[in-house]
Amino acid sequence: MDCQHRDRDQPKQALSDEQIYQWVSELVTGANRERALLELGKKREQYDDLALVLWNSFGVMTVLLEEIISVYPYLNPPVLTASISNRVCNALALLQCVASNVQTRGLFLTANLPLYLYPFLSTNARQRSFEYLRLTSLGVIGALVKNDTPEVINFLLTTEIVPLCLNIMEISSELSKTVAIFILQKILLDDQGLSYICTTYERFHTVASVLSKMIDQLSSNINNQNSQQTSSSSGRLLKHVVRCYMRLSDNLEARKALANILPEPLRDGTFSIILQDDVATKRCLAQLLSNITDQQ
Ligand code: TRP
Repeated sequence: MDCQHRDRDQPKQALSDEQIYQWVSELVTGANRERALLELGKKREQYDDLALVLWNSFGVMTVLLEEIISVYPYLNPPVLTASISNRVCNALALLQCVASNVQTRGLFLTANLPLYLYPFLSTNARQRSFEYLRLTSLGVIGALVKNDTPEVINFLLTTEIVPLCLNIMEISSELSKTVAIFILQKILLDDQGLSYICTTYERFHTVASVLSKMIDQLSSNINNQNSQQTSSSSGRLLKHVVRCYMRLSDNLEARKALANILPEPLRDGTFSIILQDDVATKRCLAQLLSNITDQQ
């Protein structure tokens, strides 16, 4: 393994690492592309400027798109194998690197590159290869929204990511659900995002009913002693659900509707044990309940 330690005075630069250029060249000439995807992916954590090298090296972004598009034929009917899924996920990891970097993020958006992931996010197959593909694709979108840039939210609002996230919150693994709801929460926290979702009753209602199904699942996990879910991952999911409801209650119309449809387990202390060490979420839930009782 390469040394992960970063020298504080002289941050290592991808720009001055010969090996990076060898792998970039392997990637583009196609001789050893799969290995190059893997090796470049490993360097991701090590260099802040890898995104710049990827974006600006001739042919790299084209190759990454080629890798992505070549997987589309396996989505429907769903015949994606584990090795094809792994390979494209390595390409997606490099895309995530470009999406995370503040200097390349805007360029990534302007080129509409997130759209290439939407076919992956719209899959419904439950096999592990599809789960991994959805999770890794969500990771790219997650990296975009992490830094609260309104232009990212605006982009996402014009591209129907919300229904895709909602679908994943219904059908996917707990890990994918958590990333999907994280994205939804980031959208809701944005003023335009909140009004986008609350602009029709239908939109609000779709969001509220997916959140409500999640509450049902989380509360039946609590009641089911044999459940395999650990309380820490359920806690993480619950935290996002509470924050999404809370943010919805900032909208007056939504607040009125929530007074009637907020699921019972959020009102009756079902989650008090899960939340006992999480003061911030407890406070958030209390605020939500107080917001909606003001309505009655
Ligand atoms: N085209 C749908 C719309 O604009 C997209 C959509 C479906 C949606 N479900 C949603 C948007 C839920 C926001 C929330 O309404």
